[in-house]
Amino acid sequence: MKKFCVLGAGTMGAGITQWLATSGKEVFLSDNNPDVLKNAETSIRKSYERLVSKNKFTDEQVREFLENIQFASSIENVPSDTDLLIEAIVENLEIKQQVFTKLDEHFGPQTIFASNTSGLSIEKIFSKLNSRPCCGLHFFNPAPIMKLVEIVKSPSISSEDLNQLKEFFISNKKIPAIVEDRPGFICNRVARNFYGESFRILNTDSPKQMQEIDFILKEVAGFRMGPFELIDLIGVDINLNATKGVFEAFGSHPRFAPHKFQEQAVNEERLGRKTNNLGLILGRSSESDFKLEVINPNQEVSPIVVYDELSHDFPENSIVFDKTLFNLEEKIELLKILKEKNNHVIVEGSHLSNDILPIINEMNFDLCNSIFLLEKNNSVELISTTGDEKIIQHFSNHMKKNVVIRSDNKLGLITPRVLMQIIFEATVAFEEGLASKKDIDSAMIYGLNYPAGPFEWQNSISAELVEALRLNMCHTISRKPNRYTR
Ligand SMILES: NC(=O)c1ccc[n+]([C@@H]2O[C@H](COP(=O)([O-])OP(=O)(O)OC[C@H]3O[C@@H](n4cnc5c(N)ncnc54)[C@H](O)[C@@H]3O)[C@@H](O)[C@H]2O)c1
Repeated sequence: MKKFCVLGAGTMGAGITQWLATSGKEVFLSDNNPDVLKNAETSIRKSYERLVSKNKFTDEQVREFLENIQFASSIENVPSDTDLLIEAIVENLEIKQQVFTKLDEHFGPQTIFASNTSGLSIEKIFSKLNSRPCCGLHFFNPAPIMKLVEIVKSPSISSEDLNQLKEFFISNKKIPAIVEDRPGFICNRVARNFYGESFRILNTDSPKQMQEIDFILKEVAGFRMGPFELIDLIGVDINLNATKGVFEAFGSHPRFAPHKFQEQAVNEERLGRKTNNLGLILGRSSESDFKLEVINPNQEVSPIVVYDELSHDFPENSIVFDKTLFNLEEKIELLKILKEKNNHVIVEGSHLSNDILPIINEMNFDLCNSIFLLEKNNSVELISTTGDEKIIQHFSNHMKKNVVIRSDNKLGLITPRVLMQIIFEATVAFEEGLASKKDIDSAMIYGLNYPAGPFEWQNSISAELVEALRLNMCHTISRKPNRYTR
């Protein structure tokens, strides 16, 4: 592919054009609004200037990149033998359909048509056209930087053309993920539970609880931003619309249901940073506002007795790490014996959801999430009932990880619930044939900056344990279907 056209010179169109030009491709950027076209030129130039000032490119290189771009205020000025046309105009089905009908008259039959729609059906966008290869190409903002492109299939595109596109993206430093034409594609669908499950963990809409969840998901699970601060950045209204879109597209299945706190904030016009931090996290002034105490490991040898399974005599007056993956009944039996022998116990309970909380409270033990950790994660989440920092220090030394201490145990363990629900949606999507596991993982990492892909997490935790937690959560709700069912 040599000749390209991008239609729509807004945020996405300008970004896609910049990436093509930087990759050495001839590209026409077209928009029906000359002012927008002028602004796009200015913003591309400024973006290159910033890259030169950071020594990413030389002036000479940038001159060459800019020579690759031609600005066209009418599609008539774009060569009809273009190889690939990428549409990035307003997100409206009827307008996109009308525009493609006109484009169909101008371009030769070899031009592949692609839409950068965020969520419209690709088949519907191209339903008025005959015998032309068409697909979705979903780029992520900022397009020159974000590596992922979801290549969305349509009945009109051959597997040769799809493969050609895939190779083209790989050779131009993008990471393609091939996906069926289903609501939300990969990213917008699988990411819903990052927000959705976090909302369900809350028991009030207090800023403190939201900040605690954000803190844990960054510090322990490794996300760059927490769900609530991200919603405040994106806009509470935008996030709610995306949630509603997927919810409706999946026949109002409860696992995609919007949360009342989102609706409430939008009704009260608390939309996030754009309304001076009047969003979900009300009046948040800076990201460093909220911190939980973290204990770091030191070199001391810690006297900890670890139980993977019941294979030796019960210790007395010791610090015990109950790492068993017993079910609740078995766990209670073990904990009772350990209590009788006057032990301090840290209990691994990630797979038992919140059922374990009252027991931990009653017995005055601590609870951790160590199985929901990847090797590369540095921190463990721990609910401290005892408040005994000496024990936590020993635990940190034993794990060789930072231990983030949570003393408000009303919310339960946060990391396991949120990761489990992301993995669950990815698994359902994979089993429905949406995309390969590899492409689902790549999409979440390179489209949304996830610290790992859902299947990478699942492999490190084990599918059985993730499933055990899902079933546990499922039993907490009597009505079916619920958030934890298909
Ligand atoms: N902004 C994002 O983060 C993002 C990410 C992925 C996908 N998308 C999708 O990309 C598309 C564009 O989004 P955006 O954020 O760049 O929008 P935008 O509003 O910044 O730009 C849209 C541009 O299309 C132009 N336009 C409208 N009708 C036109 C027509 N008939 N002919 C030529 N130009 C026309 C407008 O002048 C405008 O410049 C949408 O479908 C959106 O859903 C957006």
